[in-house]
Amino acid sequence: MELEKHEYDVVVVGAGGAGLRAAIEAHDSGARTAVVCKSLLGKAHTVMAEGGIAAAMANLYPEDNWRVHFRDTMRGGKMLNHWRMAQLHAQEAPDRVRELEDWGALFDRTPDGLISQRDFGGHRYARLAHVGDRTGLELIRTLQQRTVALGIDVYMECTVTRLLTDEDGIIGAFGYWRESGRFVAWQAPSVVLATGGIGKSYKVTSNSWEYTGDGHSLALQAGATLVNMEFVQFHPTGMVWPPSVRGILVTESVRGDGGILKNSAGNRFMFDYIPDFFRKETAETEAEADRWYDDKKNNRRPPELLPRDEVARAINSEVKAGRGTPHGGVYLDIASRRSPEYIRKRLPSMYHQFRELAEVDITAEPMEVGPTCHYVMGGVEVDPDTEAARVPGLYAAGEVAGGMHGSNRLGGNSLSDLLVFGRRAGQAAAEHAHGCAGRIELPDDALAEAGRAALAPFEREGGENPYTVQHDLQQTMHDLVGIIRTAPEMELALERIAALKERVANLSVEGHRQYNPGWHLALDLPHMLIVSECIARAALEREESRGGHTRDDFPGPDPGWGKTNLICSSASDGGVAIGHQPLPQMPAELAEIFEETPS
Ligand code: FUM
Repeated sequence: MELEKHEYDVVVVGAGGAGLRAAIEAHDSGARTAVVCKSLLGKAHTVMAEGGIAAAMANLYPEDNWRVHFRDTMRGGKMLNHWRMAQLHAQEAPDRVRELEDWGALFDRTPDGLISQRDFGGHRYARLAHVGDRTGLELIRTLQQRTVALGIDVYMECTVTRLLTDEDGIIGAFGYWRESGRFVAWQAPSVVLATGGIGKSYKVTSNSWEYTGDGHSLALQAGATLVNMEFVQFHPTGMVWPPSVRGILVTESVRGDGGILKNSAGNRFMFDYIPDFFRKETAETEAEADRWYDDKKNNRRPPELLPRDEVARAINSEVKAGRGTPHGGVYLDIASRRSPEYIRKRLPSMYHQFRELAEVDITAEPMEVGPTCHYVMGGVEVDPDTEAARVPGLYAAGEVAGGMHGSNRLGGNSLSDLLVFGRRAGQAAAEHAHGCAGRIELPDDALAEAGRAALAPFEREGGENPYTVQHDLQQTMHDLVGIIRTAPEMELALERIAALKERVANLSVEGHRQYNPGWHLALDLPHMLIVSECIARAALEREESRGGHTRDDFPGPDPGWGKTNLICSSASDGGVAIGHQPLPQMPAELAEIFEETPS
């Protein structure tokens, strides 16, 4: 078998914010480092975190600090977050933002020259450092520039299909160049997974083609565990029209900067959906909500700025009750509330996106929006301080890692998450590699077997087309494991996933190995099925409603489940096994924060 081989200390899989930040840190810690990414460098879901990076910098509100950010994050995740991750995240995010600025990121400023911060749902104070509504793009641009300047090797348009292990842990990874179809292997004692999410298992998503759950599935197959995969975030506002752009993100900044949601009857319906959990801090009338824009310190926040799970469920209910827009969404209106100049300055991408894709002028008309699968809170179970998975030498950071966001992520916390934990993962991966010098070698039989498996779809004749299977999976997850779930629907989903697995084992592709998207999809589909099975099994198991997991048959949170993590591992029959694990106990000094900080 023709195979290109390379040797590194640390291989980072994925070149979004977490991957690049991990690679920079591993390199700076003295490790020979490579980044491998499916797409062109710079094309990552990170750019879809448009509105900003959450960090308690206290630029606008001196009262803000890591303790309030920690509290907001835990409450947003309905207390299922790993407390230690939420603590590290809140403590370290401001330094990571300042560091990014040192590396050349150009943030918007306050009138007195500080980094400007904007409001987002669930955050007590305006806390999101931003660059218009293109913050993720600026973050990637900055990290990418630094990665290249440091001379870190980047394997672009290269897909990892397997992690390689021996009895002591990770020894490398195997993959192929998308352009030539040729195989490539990296020998390395440390691998950092930073592959992002799973959105392409759903029909309506803000994720692009790369997000097929590769990292989740590779980790599981290598012997790692996944935590709380049932929690999937449906961002409340994706485009709904025209059909070709359904799911594309409409940033939460539109609501953070004053936009409101209305149904087809013209009612500002979010007042009807304020949950008791957030009642104390949420305005209950239009007049009260409007006062908040003038005096944010002494008034309660508009209900449009409730956490995402609450807003997505409310929109879903309005549409189901027949109060949706002609294309099955609701109206998001900023035109009647802010001047055209303000909108164009603060939301330039949204202005262009709607003008170019939907022929809507958002400075003059409302947008039609609806929920879109945006993020998975579940992911690889990691040590909070080092991001080490259960397999020695394997690390995970960013969306592919679980625990940080509990059952629901607050907007803006993804960019800070990937900087904080990307850095920690890179550092720990480099340290691990230094201790492994000379230990590993890639066995020929494992490489040959990985190559055979990758080429199998070419060997079969008359099998099914991968696109049909992908379509059926996306429809199944959309219909049966979406925003609102019931046991019979999820049982049906699991039956369908089992049938899809059989069909995937019989896929065949035509043509040759050069740039063959059908073949690439055939290799992504097993990952998509594994993560879909994890989501459906965990969702069926968790008999309560919490954050990004709503059961029609178990409405409301259950105190027992509030202390339980669900752990997915690889079962001996090739399927997914589910176990229960107690939530790590929060130390008393952190528990006190929930008493002391203002709501
Ligand atoms: O709405 C947004 O701008 C997305 C931000 C995020 O997911 O963190």
